[in-house]
Amino acid sequence: MTAAPGQHRPATTTAHRVVVLVSGTGSNLAALLDAHDDVAYGARVVGVVSDRAAAGALDVARSAGIPTAVVAPRDFDDRANWDRGLAETAAIFRPDLIVSAGFMRILGAGFLARFPARVLNTHPALLPAFPGAHGVRDALEYGVKVTGCTLHVVDAGVDTGPIVAQVAIAVDDHDDEASLHERIKVAERALLVEWVGRIARGTLTVDGRHVVVA
Ligand code: GRF
Repeated sequence: MTAAPGQHRPATTTAHRVVVLVSGTGSNLAALLDAHDDVAYGARVVGVVSDRAAAGALDVARSAGIPTAVVAPRDFDDRANWDRGLAETAAIFRPDLIVSAGFMRILGAGFLARFPARVLNTHPALLPAFPGAHGVRDALEYGVKVTGCTLHVVDAGVDTGPIVAQVAIAVDDHDDEASLHERIKVAERALLVEWVGRIARGTLTVDGRHVVVA
């Protein structure tokens, strides 16, 4: 079956192949790895790619026997070449879906063109509020009473892509960035696992700003 533009269907009836991009500790990755052994889940992490050789998430992947790769910007002449190298490395794993889970770099136009409507990002704030690298800190400094996490399709902007799902988290008076981020991350992991599974078992359709998973 041929997918309509903006619509993505699994290439086969076997598990959806997921590549996870990481820079950090990898708790989101670990949550996906906890889920993916269950055949009924429908998705399987087949590769983990980082921009940092020291990322703890790589150890999480290795412990689970998942192949890893490091594509570090300093090994490339410029951003466009790094972006191309990243896309080529991700493509080796033949992904149906790519999940940026704590990957702290902007994906370039070349990367996104190679995997249209197939790249998701998890962000620790209720977008469109507080995009960027410090979503938790910025929300706290602004004084919001509710923040949360967002799973979205990646587009060319910074955390601007169409929203797949969100969860709200109340801010406590005594929260600091670490305590609030920890609570958000609990919700973020559950959200990511739930929606990667739903997408794997169904169809992700992006129509302008609107995402439907059915
Ligand atoms: C997550 O909160 C993600 O949204 C943010 O960084 C954190 C990564 O956590 N960009 P981990 O590496 O998955 O533990």
